[in-house]
Amino acid sequence: TEQELDEIYVFAVQLGKDAGKLLLEAAQLRISGSGDQTVQSFTEKDNAVDIVTKTDEDVEQFIKTSILSKYPHHTFLGEESYSKSTTPSSRPYLIPSSGPTWCVDPLDGTVNYTHLFPMFCVSIGFLVDGAPVIGVIYAPLLNQLFTSCKGKGSWLNETQRLPLMRNPVPPMPKNAPQGCIFSCEWGKDRKDKKDGNLHRKVDSFLNMAAEVGGREGKGGMVHGVRSLGSATLDLAYTAMGAFDIWWEGGCWEWDVAAGIAILEEAGGLVTTAKVPMNPDTAEIEPVRLGGRLYLAIRPSGPGEGETGREGQ
Ligand code: IPD
Repeated sequence: TEQELDEIYVFAVQLGKDAGKLLLEAAQLRISGSGDQTVQSFTEKDNAVDIVTKTDEDVEQFIKTSILSKYPHHTFLGEESYSKSTTPSSRPYLIPSSGPTWCVDPLDGTVNYTHLFPMFCVSIGFLVDGAPVIGVIYAPLLNQLFTSCKGKGSWLNETQRLPLMRNPVPPMPKNAPQGCIFSCEWGKDRKDKKDGNLHRKVDSFLNMAAEVGGREGKGGMVHGVRSLGSATLDLAYTAMGAFDIWWEGGCWEWDVAAGIAILEEAGGLVTTAKVPMNPDTAEIEPVRLGGRLYLAIRPSGPGEGETGREGQ
């Protein structure tokens, strides 16, 4: 019911703040250089750039325990709990298609955290029947809290409605992606092989950045190409309207669940399908969590004389 969802929202926001406080305390220990050596170190998972810290594990444990003691019948899916279980060879849909599910990344942007680059956050998504309906993302070193609940809008620090530029919400540039800020991540697959993930990403950066038309006759020339190092924050920044387009191949559910809730509630689009960059001409398939490739487009108001999609 609406009332139950409201209660879960209040709980999720408080949980995000508490978890973010733990991240902040751990980051401050790293900054001061004092304290426990385990705070300073990290362990490799699948390869040298896929890393985990004690903070990821501690914060996930805190979030998991808090959720399951309050909602013992809800499903919990977390990045670190999942990594510890056996990874099946074929990639299943991890989010059940029915029932309430929490999907959590306790520390998105672990590499940033270890380098004290401030783009790291806790990301808590709540889904009903496979669809993200609540999102809480908190980046404590930036003091940015993004929250959303279906039907209640998306918010920055609980006071500023997203997208930030709203009077009116600007349309996408006429020749999008030209004139856009394009964001994409490097991901963790660093195999240097033609047609591999890394090469496709480098190509997409070049395509967006290259003068008129891009290297392969598409994309280019965007105002800027960005890579924050946190897929979750990329989605929050797209909801804010700071990024026009975000693209990533290789995401897991916990990287995107909360961000999708926040972006969609702000009036933006996210899809797992390959679509043209201009949302007015795109046929958008609803996003299905479990795909690995995501394309997100910021909320946009109508262009001159058009009746396009409006931010709410
Ligand atoms: C990663 C970050 C990164 C993205 C990867 C994610 P993590 O999450 O969001 O930007 O490229 O796909 O797995 O490991 O820092 O929680």
